Amino acid sequence: MSRINNTNIWINLKKHQKEINSIHLRDYFKDPNRFKSFSLEVDDFFLDYSKNLISKETMKLLYMLANKLKLKSQINAMFNGEKINWTENRSVLHTALRDKSKKSIIINNKNIKIEIQKVLDKVNTFSNGIRNGSLKGYTGKKFKSVVHIGIGGSDLGPRVINDSLKYYHDGPKVYFVSNVDASELKENLKNLSPETTLFLIASKTFTTQETMRNAKTAKNWILKYLSEKAIGKHFAAISTNEQKVIEFGIKKSNIFTFWDFVGGRYSSWSSIGLPIAIAIGYKKFNEFLEGGYEMDIHFQNKDYHENLPIILGLVGLWYNNFFNAQTYAIIPYDFYLSNFSDHIQQLDMESNGKFIDRDNQKVEYDTGPIVWGKPGTNGQHAFFQLLHQGTKLIPCDFIGFKKSLNQIEDHHDILMANLFAQTKALAFGLTKEEVKKKILHENKNGVDLIPHRTFLGNRPTNTILIDKLTPKSIGKLLALYEHKIFVQGAIWEINSFDQWGVELGKNLASEILKKIKTKSTLGEDVSTDGLLKKYLTL
Ligand code: F6P
Repeated sequence: MSRINNTNIWINLKKHQKEINSIHLRDYFKDPNRFKSFSLEVDDFFLDYSKNLISKETMKLLYMLANKLKLKSQINAMFNGEKINWTENRSVLHTALRDKSKKSIIINNKNIKIEIQKVLDKVNTFSNGIRNGSLKGYTGKKFKSVVHIGIGGSDLGPRVINDSLKYYHDGPKVYFVSNVDASELKENLKNLSPETTLFLIASKTFTTQETMRNAKTAKNWILKYLSEKAIGKHFAAISTNEQKVIEFGIKKSNIFTFWDFVGGRYSSWSSIGLPIAIAIGYKKFNEFLEGGYEMDIHFQNKDYHENLPIILGLVGLWYNNFFNAQTYAIIPYDFYLSNFSDHIQQLDMESNGKFIDRDNQKVEYDTGPIVWGKPGTNGQHAFFQLLHQGTKLIPCDFIGFKKSLNQIEDHHDILMANLFAQTKALAFGLTKEEVKKKILHENKNGVDLIPHRTFLGNRPTNTILIDKLTPKSIGKLLALYEHKIFVQGAIWEINSFDQWGVELGKNLASEILKKIKTKSTLGEDVSTDGLLKKYLTL
């Protein structure tokens, strides 16, 4: 029997939701202090959460819920290396990777900060060598292209961060290949020269089917054009499984390790970030780490009402559990963050898509939301119709920068005007009366357009306004979402750091592949067998 939904505080939150359900954001905004009361400035980050369906009482109750679940001590447990990933008996210390303090972090009698620094130094030396050409390919040429092969956390994090920091790229071009669909590798290698291409094989386990298949094909490509001896120079691996890497044929000095206390989807801060360091240089990669560290300090030390990840986590939970919102959208108004939501989608859905709680019982409340999103203004001309006039409640995070990296005439003002306009339209809508005034003369062809042109509003948004897109601010932003997800997982009492839910499909794929190779069927369900037969006759 799950506990949190039986607590008084949960029951009070439910009651409170019913009480405030009929209050419109238009009513809340009669309070001239609303913006001041529900916004927060933390250095270069500004969060406006006033356009949410919340009152001071809501936040008070949510903070009480966090207290009830001992959120602060759960946060400390993570930072102190307690084994909070209890199904895998592991600490969760991606935060140690970016910890810039002098403090030691002892795990199994070892100060892991020393190990971490050694690997970072290696990332520094290697990325520098690739960038300045002192590390060359087999035929003595400088590397022009780097192909990073990985999937899931070994792909999405570095891929999305790398995209976000494209403005700062001044090293070899970095490509990312994840899908086992040969077309992805083929298309990426199409215009590359084996002599000037370096492969980074990123896999925590070094057993993941897709990555291993792609890595072998990449190896064959090098063998076809160069020689066996070239592998040592053209391949590096990022993995915790040294033995498997060596079996694959990658030399020991080209192995970048990380540790089991770093979850795949939290690993961009580790050597998995090597392609980023190659693209932007180690100095800037380190600024990205510093950004993450700044958010860690903030998360650990600030009270609930001054704490960005805690506020975002609790407000998100409010909709998820008390308004039955099934999804939330992340809408960055910045080209460089076009794929940002892809990474947060994995981070959130792989972390909190769980139905078993700390007591090994099925939860009796909703856990992780569906996360999705696309950049503005493009989204406005695609899915925003549903956000404005659909039947579903979809809370959104809008992310914008005060300064554009490409300040050309009034582009940025137009972009930001759209961001502000959308959150305003979503919050306040347009009443029948307002529509009547506006379209008095447009009521043509006998169609009453008034209901069609009415916007109910009351659709909640957060706006995260950041001074400027830099490696540091991207580090902060990513850590902000990591911790937001932590807050929610901690309150739902689920393990945000395992991912057993991906295993069944992986195992079945291996079984089915064997059947495909022997041209037989599983002899089990008629649908899968039927499909296999169809596939095999082709
Ligand atoms: O599919 C789940 C998963 O285990 C992710 O958590 C992980 O990031 C990804 O696969 C890739 O795993 P690996 O880095 O071991 O290849």
